[in-house]
Amino acid sequence: MNSKETRSKFLEFFKSKQHLIVPSAPMVVKNDPTLMFTNSGMAPFKEYFLGNGKPKSNRIADTQKCLRVSGKHNDLEEVGMDTYHHTMFEMLGNWSFGDYFKKEAIEWAWELLTEVYKIDKDILYVTIFEGDESEGLERDTEAYDLWKQFVPEDRILNGNKKDNFWEMGDQGPCGPCSEIHVDIRSAEEKEKIPGKDLVNNDHPQVVEIWNLVFMQFNRKANGSLEKLPAQHVDTGMGFERLCMVLQNKQSNYDTDVFTPLIREIGAITNTNYGKDEKKDIATRVIADHVRAVAFSIADGQLPSNTGAGYVIRRILRRAIRYGFTFLDKKEPFIYKLIETLSAQMGDAFPELITEKNLITNVIREEENSFLRTLDQGLVLLENVIETADSKEISGKKAFELYDTFGFPIDLTALILRERGYSLNEKEFDAELQQQKDRSRAATKVETGDWVVLEKDDVEEFVGYDTLETQVKITRYRKVDSKKEGEMYQLVFNLTPFYPEGGGQVGDKGYLEAADGGVTYIVDTKKENNLIIHFTKTLPRNPETTFKAVVDEKQRSRTASNHTATHLLHQGLRNILGEHVAQKGSMVHSRNLRFDFSHFAKVSDEELKQVEDFVNARIREGIALEERRNIPYQQAIDEGAIALFGEKYGDAVRAIKFGKSMELCGGTHVPNTNDIWHFIITSEGAVASGIRRIEAITGDAAKQYFIDRSESFASLQKALNNAQDPVKAVESLQEENSALQKQIQQLLKDKAKNLKGELKAEIAQINGVNFLAKKIDLDAGGMKDLAFEMGGETENLFVVFGAEHDGKVLLACYISKELASEKNLDAGKIIRELGKYIQGGGGGQSFFATAGGKNAAGIDEALEKAKEFLK
Ligand code: SER
Repeated sequence: MNSKETRSKFLEFFKSKQHLIVPSAPMVVKNDPTLMFTNSGMAPFKEYFLGNGKPKSNRIADTQKCLRVSGKHNDLEEVGMDTYHHTMFEMLGNWSFGDYFKKEAIEWAWELLTEVYKIDKDILYVTIFEGDESEGLERDTEAYDLWKQFVPEDRILNGNKKDNFWEMGDQGPCGPCSEIHVDIRSAEEKEKIPGKDLVNNDHPQVVEIWNLVFMQFNRKANGSLEKLPAQHVDTGMGFERLCMVLQNKQSNYDTDVFTPLIREIGAITNTNYGKDEKKDIATRVIADHVRAVAFSIADGQLPSNTGAGYVIRRILRRAIRYGFTFLDKKEPFIYKLIETLSAQMGDAFPELITEKNLITNVIREEENSFLRTLDQGLVLLENVIETADSKEISGKKAFELYDTFGFPIDLTALILRERGYSLNEKEFDAELQQQKDRSRAATKVETGDWVVLEKDDVEEFVGYDTLETQVKITRYRKVDSKKEGEMYQLVFNLTPFYPEGGGQVGDKGYLEAADGGVTYIVDTKKENNLIIHFTKTLPRNPETTFKAVVDEKQRSRTASNHTATHLLHQGLRNILGEHVAQKGSMVHSRNLRFDFSHFAKVSDEELKQVEDFVNARIREGIALEERRNIPYQQAIDEGAIALFGEKYGDAVRAIKFGKSMELCGGTHVPNTNDIWHFIITSEGAVASGIRRIEAITGDAAKQYFIDRSESFASLQKALNNAQDPVKAVESLQEENSALQKQIQQLLKDKAKNLKGELKAEIAQINGVNFLAKKIDLDAGGMKDLAFEMGGETENLFVVFGAEHDGKVLLACYISKELASEKNLDAGKIIRELGKYIQGGGGGQSFFATAGGKNAAGIDEALEKAKEFLK
């Protein structure tokens, strides 16, 4: 069964069991401060397990793009070494939100595996949770008894907390789980060691394929468990591993999910997969990583130096390094695989096709720049080797290369080994650990449990219609972070505060109690479908009613920038073309930032046109048409622009200003007139094929004009109140260049006179024309003068000394014939004489200069010069 069929059979099966089939959520998570990437199939449904929202159906199934590289579930370093771990993988999953529980989950899993996929029952093992005394948890006998109907008891194994108790994170929903493992070894091998001894023992052919989690607890901040109000099921099956089993392969990489990529890597790098272990690992690393990187870029996450972008950059660099070291690829090549990848997976994930050019360009640029870093690192490493005083290189040095220049440690170790050196790895590890500890301490956040004041599942957002309303606090908790200190997070029954999202900053404002006490709200964010208000202190009587007031000024400036962003988007598409797509945006009260796909620099002329376009829409005074809760498809059919990598619900909000229509949750001005004016302040590149425009509107634009006009007035004043300052500056420039010319001429004349005077002072010593003289010229002037004199007088030996512009200088000139005839070397002489001015220098045998600190030594140096002729 090929991979396409495997995927669709799963979805069909659960559809037949009354599950709603939903598309994969984006792999890159936006607007969730607790998670960068979707790391398991359940992540997009977190809010339902936490009870902060209601799912569309209480039975859902899907295939979810997942990435596991950071945080609690982290597989990065294992990827490529073995044949069954991945960074990006698909997780097939079915969920029950307070609906069915263990019985159905177990029965259906068995039915699907053995009757639909027809996996031989004899190769399957299952595990159940054995219980844990320290947690006060009992053995999961319910699951055991359910499995007993299908599986012989000696194939039902007990598992400990590490393997059979699944937790989303340090806090939150969790519960015992039951895993299904396959043993795909040969009969001969099975004969030698029974499969049950290899379950959960990192054997590449005895692997877990499906995890059935029975969510029934919530892990609290103090580590204790409390029962959830409802019981849920969360299952996750590794798609690539399932394909391995169904295609009778021994490795995920031998299935049709990976073989097209592996063939292509072989063709590009001239290698044959399966012949050399090191090259095979490199090939697997690249085949795996290119998927993770391509899917992230398609979801709108570009490689960068922080956050999720940095994770993507590190994955791509790991692939480049493996190609560089083991497949001898010193030029970009990974980008070439995108063609194959999009052809192969574009059916199931169409974003790979629409975003193909962007993905290709971004990867190629990243490869180019990291290969340059590797080149520089090689030179630096060479230097370390040359200056080493023992055969063991210090871990500190290697860490410096790694930390400051991004030079990978495995490459350092390899090169050192090849050159007969070793690396003090202990020292390196210690440095790395210290750095990790430092950054962990810096980002550590301790989150307390929610204190629930009032049961209220749905926190209504009323901030589109009002900036002020009476609220009650339904729950709050304390958070303590190194960065922000102690803070409180408050949730209300309803709120006018806009939570950060869709590129727009969160609202600020305050809560006012009946007794007049005020608590400032410094930020608003959304987490697991809760709108969270951040405060520095807890209001005195949190149970009472408060007036919640949004900072109106910040909100209206932000709204002005948000609407301008939509108009800018429209203007860019009009003027540059329909290929322009939003790739990121940041809307503050100060300014706006908009990233978009475009292949060239936007010219000044085009920028002017875009600015004019936006300002024309502002002058037109277009009223906002807001459409709340319309069906997604209807909005798209009416021409609304949706963003790639964004998660939309069935009902959406569309924002329309004339011909500009976008799906958007942000806040906007009622009429484009309110923006007042739009000014582009910068345009530049963010990545290959991605440009960034920054702009200001409203009050900031007014301030811009005020500042300009003030500078203009000062300028005018400095120009003696000239009526036309531009003309006045031009005439100053003309005057200046005429004066420059005069000065040049005067200097030339001065040098000519000086030359004449000096010529008269030349003395004859042992048949040599000798002159040692203090003059007032800079280094360049001394050199010119010496060479000019040399052109007119044969057999010349000149030493000049000068104190010019605070510099103490010496120069020595010797006619070429004289230098060779008498074996004189200006370089050596100047070094000797340089000692008198406490300096050093050098040059060639016929001309050399020295610089020093001691002006008082110039006379002595000139005095000693003649001794070289004796
Ligand atoms: N959440 C569980 C896992 O990731 C099952 O989906 O393994």
